[in-house]
Amino acid sequence: MLRVEDLHVRYGAIAALRGVSLTVQQGELVALIGVNGAGKTTTLSAISGVLKPASGLITFRDQTLIGKSPEIILRMGIAMVPEGRDIFPSLTVEENLRLGAFSRRNRAEYRNDLKEIFALFPILEERLHQMGGTLSGGEQQQLAIARSLMAHPQLLMLDEPSLGLAPTLVEQIFKLIATLQARGVTILLVEQNVDRTLEIADRVYLLNTGRVELEGSPEQLKSKASIREVYLGEG
Ligand SMILES: Nc1ncnc2c1ncn2[C@@H]1O[C@H](COP(=O)(O)OP(=O)(O)O)[C@@H](O)[C@H]1O
Ligand SMILES: [Mg+2]
Repeated sequence: MLRVEDLHVRYGAIAALRGVSLTVQQGELVALIGVNGAGKTTTLSAISGVLKPASGLITFRDQTLIGKSPEIILRMGIAMVPEGRDIFPSLTVEENLRLGAFSRRNRAEYRNDLKEIFALFPILEERLHQMGGTLSGGEQQQLAIARSLMAHPQLLMLDEPSLGLAPTLVEQIFKLIATLQARGVTILLVEQNVDRTLEIADRVYLLNTGRVELEGSPEQLKSKASIREVYLGEG
């Protein structure tokens, strides 16, 4: 569904990505892990059209994404939930959700989507008329994910959704991601919570200084001694 090949991205003199290749098949939950500065966010930003690659290929359903605007890429079916809970704090929960629903043309469809969202995120129904900014961190993250889902993306990209959340909320977010995948949403997940990520991912790419250092199933990655030492706090 998504294919990234030999992707290079620079910030001025800094080469942030130096030949990243990855694929995501329909229905898969693919995780991108790696320490701070490895190039995870840069990879998602290049896919979503926010950053222009220096070279490389990105295709989605055999159509190139290179040179397309973020708006077009979103309309092609790729939604990104950026790091840091990107919601509108002075709009209500309902208004935030409505902004995500640009692809819904009629009221009945919109109502139906809201119903599905409330089934996944009951707290958002309770908070529907509250300002986004008054929600807790975990609730804001749920709202950011819910808003993306309102656009019915074919591929959902999540950048560190559990960052900065209390442990019980981290668990909620991981359960939610697993639920989304069970419902058929294709997901590209960036996470630093490697333990939990290896439990839910189908395949994993480990980025290191702008390159893919390792890729494989969670089992394959767990069997590498270097992973256990650096990312799983063992050894
Ligand atoms: N806006 C920017 N300007 C300059 N360098 C950047 C910028 N954003 C990221 N970088 C650099 O690019 C590299 C990859 O960053 P990033 O993709 O944010 O990593 P990650 O998300 O894995 O923590 C790092 O060396 C980082 O310092
Ligand atoms: Mg990042």
